[in-house]
Order: sequence, then C-alpha cells, then structure tokens
Amino acid sequence: MAVTQTATKARNGHRPSADREIPVRRLEVTPDASGTDWIVPGDPIFSHLLAVLSAVFPRGEDFFVASVRRHRDAIAEDPKLKAQVKGFIGQEAMHGREHRALNAQLAELGYATVRADRIIGEICDFILKLPPETLAIAVTAAAEHFTGLLGEAALGDESTRNTLFGQEAIEPLICWHALEELEHKNVAFDVMVAAGAGYPVRAAGFAVTTGVLAGYIVFEWGRCLVGDRRQIKLGHVRKFVSDLRRQKLLSGWSLGKAVSYLRPGFHPDDTDTDALVAEWRERLAEIAPINTDRKSA
Ligand SMILES: [Fe+2]
Ligand SMILES: [Fe+2]
Repeated sequence: MAVTQTATKARNGHRPSADREIPVRRLEVTPDASGTDWIVPGDPIFSHLLAVLSAVFPRGEDFFVASVRRHRDAIAEDPKLKAQVKGFIGQEAMHGREHRALNAQLAELGYATVRADRIIGEICDFILKLPPETLAIAVTAAAEHFTGLLGEAALGDESTRNTLFGQEAIEPLICWHALEELEHKNVAFDVMVAAGAGYPVRAAGFAVTTGVLAGYIVFEWGRCLVGDRRQIKLGHVRKFVSDLRRQKLLSGWSLGKAVSYLRPGFHPDDTDTDALVAEWRERLAEIAPINTDRKSA
C-alpha cells in the first residue's frame, strides 16, 4: 500500500524526499566491542559478514562522497538538492568515523577489517577512474539502494535487528547508521539524474555495485570463514542456519528489493519509509542528537 501511495504522490509531482531535511547527528554512545567474542552471539559466520560490512563502510562512503562531489555543478541551480547533498556528505563522514573506530576494535579481536579496508579502497579508487564520468555516481546510487535496504531491514524488522544487530556493542551504531541511510536514500540517485546519467549508465552502475562491490564483500566473507575454519564448529553452522531464518538481510525480500532498482521508472521513494524514519528519529533522539552547527537545511 505504501508503494502505491508514494507512486501516486510522485505522479502528482510530489516526492516525499524532495523536501526532506537531512540533519547531521553525533553518536553519543561509543561502540565497545572489546569484550565480545562474536559480534553476532554464537554465530561466527554472520559475525564475519557484519565485520566485513563494517570494514568496507569508511572507504566506501569516502567514495560515495567523492562521486557526489564530482557533480556539484549539475545541482548548482537546485537549492533543495544542494542542501540535501550537504547533509548527505555530513552524515557519511560521521558514519565513516564511527565505523573506523569499531573496525579498529574488531581488528584487535582478530577480524580482518584492515585487509578489507585496504582492498575496498583500491577498488573504489579504480571505479572513480572508469568512464563515463557518471559511472561512479551511478555505482553510488545503486550502493545507496543497498544501504537503504539494509536500513529498512534493520529498523523495520525487529527480528532482523535482534538477531544480527542485538549486541549492545553495535546496536546503537547500526540503528543510527540505518536511520540516516533511509533519510538520505534519494540523494545519490537524484544527483545521478541531475548529472544526466540515463538508464544504461544507471544499469551499469547497478552491475558494478553487485558484481564488484557486493562481489568483493561476499568473496572477503568467504575468505574470512576459510581463515577461521578451525574455530567454526557444527553448532556454529546450525546457529547460522537458525539466524538465517530470523533475518531479512539475506533473503528473498532483499533480493526482490535489490532487483526492483532495475525497473525503468524506479525511484528510491517508491518505497515509503517516512514513517520508519519518523519513528526512529524519536527513538534515537537521545543517543544521536542533531548537530545543530551542521544541520543542512
Ligand atoms: Fe552511511
Ligand atoms: Fe549512505
């Protein structure tokens, strides 16, 4: 129903995201993973996946920001989008900072976050150099579709949240990050459109995001599991299978949502997440207050 309502609003010339304010927040809670064994309790397999995801965020988000900045001229005449871009850059910078701190703790616990950070950095630098000039923003727009999906699963599905992100050490960071991914989910897409990228470039961006970025994440996850094979027992595999059933991140739901990006008339507003955003703005107001100095609009 939400999809239909939003689609109708979009047809009427109103997109929910067009007037959305994108504030920058400080996370007041410092994630502390130092006392934990597996970040998904009892489940080294999902723990390694979350560690790889956290590891690729800082360099990945630097890349998102660089690819958006490249098209500053294209949005110069659009003050609302300009303000949203400012909020987007501020939010991604804060995400990178907090994930770097968490990744350093994860590295001390034995997770391969340093390696993943280095390799994803090299991959992103390479993508930035690929033609056409709009490819990088198309990759970013597709990647933001995935982070929005992650945000929707984390905040909108309690079972996913409890199963994968329930650990005290990471829950506030994940929820704060998820909220802001939903708040700015339209920005890279709208910059891509303003920069003149048509459907072929958008589809190429999606192909690079799934084939190269997501492909590397899956490869690195497998590499971590092989490296840790002596620690992974049959009970861990059973726990992974049980966790798999309780979460939406790796599911048919995610796959369907991911592929919907290829629909020619797609826009991130097709799924209305405004109620979710409003709910979590309130729930996180104390632990992630808005940084009024850097508010975007
Ligand atoms: Fe982010
Ligand atoms: Fe983002």
